[in-house]
Amino acid sequence: MSEPKVPPSALLADGIAAVPHHVAIIMDGNGRWAAARGLPRVEGHRRGVEALRRTIRAAGEIGIKVITIFSFSSENWSRPAAEVGELMGLLRRFIRNDLAELHKSGVRVRIIGERAGLEADIGRLLIEAEELTKDNTGLTLVVAFNYGARQEIARAARRAAEAVAQGTLNAQDITVDTVAGFLDTADLPDPDLIIRTSGEQRLSNFLLWQSAYSELVFVPANWPDFDRAILEGAIREYQQRERRFGGLSGTAAAKTGS
Ligand code: IPE
Ligand code: IPE
Ligand code: MG
Repeated sequence: MSEPKVPPSALLADGIAAVPHHVAIIMDGNGRWAAARGLPRVEGHRRGVEALRRTIRAAGEIGIKVITIFSFSSENWSRPAAEVGELMGLLRRFIRNDLAELHKSGVRVRIIGERAGLEADIGRLLIEAEELTKDNTGLTLVVAFNYGARQEIARAARRAAEAVAQGTLNAQDITVDTVAGFLDTADLPDPDLIIRTSGEQRLSNFLLWQSAYSELVFVPANWPDFDRAILEGAIREYQQRERRFGGLSGTAAAKTGS
């Protein structure tokens, strides 16, 4: 995926607005997609994996460098055991079936989230995916699995406290960068664009620290229907936003002579 297989669409190739470097996606609405068709929820999750494959391919072609996908939240354990089991099974199958192909395409896989407490074979698959692809230079695929942003921040606080206790860190020296360095995403850029499917307009404990200045785009489509056209539509919306990061817009800055 390091070399785009097909040229980016006309809009995205216009050279005016930048393609977001890092896109993060809250893949939501699998259950509703299935319910609308009289199918079991698991069928929605299965079709969701196909949407994920399409999206990874499209992201590489469009020129996105980092894509983060929310695949299982810390709170999703509260679902019925059968559904949790099915979601774990889909992750296993995704890594077993798709890892070789992802590796061949130059994708670098990173996993964020809590590893402790996962079933041993899943833990091993996550390590295998990261190890096999760690030197790849194409698209970085960040899988947020057993991930919750509050839990991640609490882990970071614990690590910082341990470093202070061991005398390797002074409490007075803890800055924004120090905290960021203890997060699971330490070496990853913040998301420029966060997309949530299914019309829900909330973050549900996803990347709370990293999303401080992300642009949020909510799309009505359920995740199994997500495709390149919807991704491009969200990017177009992103390109019309003005990111100020607390400063002034170009026009306002010019008026004040700054
Ligand atoms: C997203 O779809 C997948 C996960 C959260 C694992 P949902 O399963 O949340 O589908 P809805 O929101 O119930 O439709
Ligand atoms: C967020 O979706 C988690 C994932 C997409 C993995 P949920 O469906 O779990 O979120 P809520 O419960 O609607 O907020
Ligand atoms: Mg949901």
